[in-house]
Amino acid sequence: MNPKTPTAEFASVVYGDGVALDDPAETLHEATKLYPSSGLRQSRGILLMESHAELRQSVGRAGHRYLHRPRILLPPPRRPRGSLARAIEERCSQRPAPGSTIDLPTLAAVLGAANGLRSGEPARRTIPSGGALYPLELYVLSLRLEATPRGVYHFDPHDSCLEQLTGDVAGIERELVEPAIGENSAAILAVTGVFWRTRFKYGLRAYRFTLLEAGHAVQNALLTAGALGLAALPLGGFYDSRIEAVLGVDGVHESVLYLVALGERAR
Ligand SMILES: Cc1cc2nc3c(=O)[nH]c(=O)nc-3n(C[C@H](O)[C@H](O)[C@H](O)COP(=O)(O)O)c2cc1C
Repeated sequence: MNPKTPTAEFASVVYGDGVALDDPAETLHEATKLYPSSGLRQSRGILLMESHAELRQSVGRAGHRYLHRPRILLPPPRRPRGSLARAIEERCSQRPAPGSTIDLPTLAAVLGAANGLRSGEPARRTIPSGGALYPLELYVLSLRLEATPRGVYHFDPHDSCLEQLTGDVAGIERELVEPAIGENSAAILAVTGVFWRTRFKYGLRAYRFTLLEAGHAVQNALLTAGALGLAALPLGGFYDSRIEAVLGVDGVHESVLYLVALGERAR
């Protein structure tokens, strides 16, 4: 690489002669900025919550639970060896090798890092969350997990278990821009956001919070997966509404934000 090559600047490709007034990305970003005058107006929920002790208690335990579905209790998580510094230094995106499998203690470690409960009171998570409102949900598409039938599972961090939502994951790889990634993965994690859980308190800015928190969850998952010797690939290349149909979420109240393909490393 020639260090004298100037860095290209593509702003003009994005904006042309100026920012269009109806540019959806600009509108979204502008709408989620905080101003001294806009905060309280958007956050009726803060006042509501302050006036009801039950509401305060209720928002502290947000999360889907499917107690009526078949459950697989997760075993104690495999503990990564090595330092955090090393995990950060060595993190890299890797595609799962063909025929990959993962055992449940390893999966439990990745799930716990991404959205597990932290020890201590009050019950908090392994990731930070604005107002401790926890708008994220975590799903596992089991494609070749050891001792786990194929299917779509929801991760319940409270009981540390997988709740089976459906056994049908046939053709899931076609919902990825690059189907081979799905064909080779042992499992795909799907992070969704339930926006109202945080919007009721933080208004439009909560939309940003939900995306930021998905980043926290996925980074924890990637570092843990890497430290345990797995191949892990963060994925933005998927067809949102088709993944949402597979997960059984409506794309409005709850929408898919991010996927992580997991499997074995190529030898
Ligand atoms: C938000 C996001 C979306 C990504 N989506 C994809 C994807 O759809 N397909 C893919 O092969 N890699 C994807 N990646 C991985 C990047 O290509 C990778 O992070 C980048 O090449 C840098 O390599 P490194 O992660 O090994 O440092 C994504 C990464 C991020 C952060």
